[in-house]
Amino acid sequence: MKKITELAPGLHYVGANDRTTQRFEALWSLPYGVSYNSYLLVDEKVALIDSIEAGFADIYFDHIAGVLGDRPVDYLIVNHMEPDHSGSITRLRERYPDLKIVGNAKTLDMIGGYYGIRDNCLEVKEGDTLSLGGRTLRFHLTPMIHWPETMMTYCVELKALFSGDAFGTFGALNGGIVDSQLCLEGFWDEMRRYYACIVSKYGKPVQMALRKLAGVDIEWICSTHGPVWHDRVADVVALYDKMSRHEGEYGVVIAYGSMYGHTARVAEHIARELAERGVKPIVMHNLSFADPSMVLRDIHKYRALIVGSPTYNGELFPEMDALLDRLSSRGVAPRIFAGFGGMTWAGATPRRWAEFCERSKWSLCAPAIEIRQGYSSVCHEACAELARSIADRLNG
Ligand code: FEO
Repeated sequence: MKKITELAPGLHYVGANDRTTQRFEALWSLPYGVSYNSYLLVDEKVALIDSIEAGFADIYFDHIAGVLGDRPVDYLIVNHMEPDHSGSITRLRERYPDLKIVGNAKTLDMIGGYYGIRDNCLEVKEGDTLSLGGRTLRFHLTPMIHWPETMMTYCVELKALFSGDAFGTFGALNGGIVDSQLCLEGFWDEMRRYYACIVSKYGKPVQMALRKLAGVDIEWICSTHGPVWHDRVADVVALYDKMSRHEGEYGVVIAYGSMYGHTARVAEHIARELAERGVKPIVMHNLSFADPSMVLRDIHKYRALIVGSPTYNGELFPEMDALLDRLSSRGVAPRIFAGFGGMTWAGATPRRWAEFCERSKWSLCAPAIEIRQGYSSVCHEACAELARSIADRLNG
C-alpha cells in the first residue's frame, strides 16, 4: 500500500506536527497546534524543500531517513528563512555535509547571519531552474510574504507549487496531509487567522505574487503550514485573493471593553438592535477575555466593526488601544465602522475613535455614542440609530 506521506511519485511529506507550543511567534495562540511542512523530491538528485523548527529535528530526520535510508540529500531549497523553517539547517548540514543550500541573495545573506553558513550555497534569481534529473524546479521571487526573502518553488512536471507560508494555516494535521484526506472544517478559519495575524500587512505583495503566478498551472500547493492543497487549489487561491484585498463578508464584529458592565450593556443593546434588523452573523468579543488573534481574524472576515470602550485614565481601555494599534499597523482596509463608550467625569472615546479614523483613513458611519456614568435607556435611541446605519450600509 502506498504511504500517505508519498503525495505523488517521488514527492514525500516529511514535516512534523507541533501540539505543544503555546504561542506561534511567541504571540499567537495555537489551540489546534501547527504543522511545519517539509517536502522531499527524490529523483537522480534529492531535494529537500523547506525545513522545520529546531525542536522537531529528531522527528524530521527520522521522516527523511524513512524515505532515503542512507542516501544523502543533495539540495535544501529555502523558500523562507524564518526560524520555524530554518531552525534545523545547522543540524541538516552536520548530517549531510555536502548539502547545497539553494536560496535567493537575501535568503543566503540571512542564512549567513543566523547560522554562519556561507559555503556550498547556490544563489537563484527569478525564473532560474534547477534540474534534479527527471524533475525541474523553477524559482519565483515573491518578496514580503511576509519577509523580504520569501520565494516560491515550482516543480514543472508535478505542477506542484511550494509556496512557503503563503496559503498556509494554523492547525496541526490530524492524520491526513492532503486536503482530500482531512476534515477541512476549521482549517478555513485557521487560514484566515494565520493570514490576519502574520501576513495581512502585506496585501500588496500577496497581490503581486498572485499576478506572477496567474499563468502557472498549479495542481498542488505545498505550503509550509497546514494541509497540502490538491482538490481545493482554486478555492484556496480565491480566498487568498480576497483576503489580500481585505475584502470582508456580510456580518458585524462588536469588540468592546467594559470594567463594570455598563459599556457591555450598550454592546448587548446594539447587538439586539442589529439582530432586529436581520443582521447576522454578529460576532461579539469582550476584549478582556477574547483571544487577540481570533478578534483580528473576525475583523478581517466581516465588513462591519463596532468598537466600545470605557474611558480609562483619560484614554481608551488598554485592550481597545491594543486592538486599534494592531489594525493600524496591519493597514486593515476600512470597515463599516461605529463606536460607543462610557465615561464617569471626562470622556475620551469620541476623540479616540476620530484619531483612529484619521490615522487609518477609516470613517464613522454614525455619531459616536457616549454614556455618562451608568447604563440606562437614555442611550437606546442612539443605539437604534447606530444599528440602523450599520444595517443600511451592509445592505446597501
Ligand atoms: Fe512559517 Fe514566516 O514562518
